[in-house]
Amino acid sequence: TQTYHIAVIPGDGIGKEIIPIAQAALEKAAEGAAHFAYEPFDLGAERYLRDGAILPDEDLERIKRADAILLGAIGDPRIKAGILERGLLLKLRFALDQYVNLRPSKLYKGVTSPLANPGDIDFVVVREGTEGLYCGAGGAIRRDTPAEVATEVSINTAYGVERVVRYAFELAMKRRKHVTLVHKKNVLVNAGDMWQRIVDRVGAEYPEVSHDYQHIDAATIFLVSDPSRFDVILTDNLFGDILTDEAGAVVGGVGYSASGCINASNEYPSMFEPIHGSAPDIAGKGIANPTAAILSTAMLLRHLGFDEPAVRIERAVEADIEELGSAQRSTQQVGQDILARL
Ligand code: IPM
Ligand code: MN
Repeated sequence: TQTYHIAVIPGDGIGKEIIPIAQAALEKAAEGAAHFAYEPFDLGAERYLRDGAILPDEDLERIKRADAILLGAIGDPRIKAGILERGLLLKLRFALDQYVNLRPSKLYKGVTSPLANPGDIDFVVVREGTEGLYCGAGGAIRRDTPAEVATEVSINTAYGVERVVRYAFELAMKRRKHVTLVHKKNVLVNAGDMWQRIVDRVGAEYPEVSHDYQHIDAATIFLVSDPSRFDVILTDNLFGDILTDEAGAVVGGVGYSASGCINASNEYPSMFEPIHGSAPDIAGKGIANPTAAILSTAMLLRHLGFDEPAVRIERAVEADIEELGSAQRSTQQVGQDILARL
């Protein structure tokens, strides 16, 4: 069996508690199929507070050589918003050109949705990961004066949009063959029009896949009024950020939501992380739910081509939630229960 190098960034808060459990699940599921060598990275709030380092170049270079990255959570209330987000998490996504931010949402049996009639929820958001308002293009002048000006510019390139659009159509081919483009083309006419034209052009190459369009504001309504209508939702970086938090809530909380920051050309490693944050309010109590982190390892396995172990993790999680999803359990207990099913 081949050895895969996994860069592990537990990060902050509950990230440190759930990542070891996720690694244990990964190990057990892949037994006999693949061997993993882990390289832990001390990155996140503690490191920053200790020596001011956010993502040193030598760490980034080592991370670049990994086969995949497993990340817990980044963020700490003691640190000004934006420093770790931009300097660590987004820097990784950008430096490793992870242009597909893949975020599946599924309502598992045994989970109570906040919706009265949730129906059969099973969709994936394909969120663009390297462009849009996340680029950091813009600036501020005359700071702290009444004449202050601040701009954030959304960058959309034909190259960047086309590659993520293609990914969405390829993914739809393996699913229920429907793509919904979400944007705000009635107002953001430049970028919105370009997204739509690229979707129309690429979509024509996939005659079996139907596609439609929704404005972001309408999409937030349909996500709660009729979520089962969605299969693949394709959208830009910021709309995707917002929509996937809503999606997490609709399927019973972000505790069950995994994600992949994918470099689909495999030039650099892809990164797998739960959608939830570092949850400082419950950190250190041993009660964080490791399910989303465990599901992230299933995405990692699938990305590396190990479909069978990935399915095993998903089945184990599904069975665990169905049977014990409503029980109060510690992090360790959930881990043990899921591992026992693998
Ligand atoms: C997410 C997070 C990040 C994002 C933040 C922490 C930078 O909200 O992964 O969804 O906005 O992408
Ligand atoms: Mn988010």
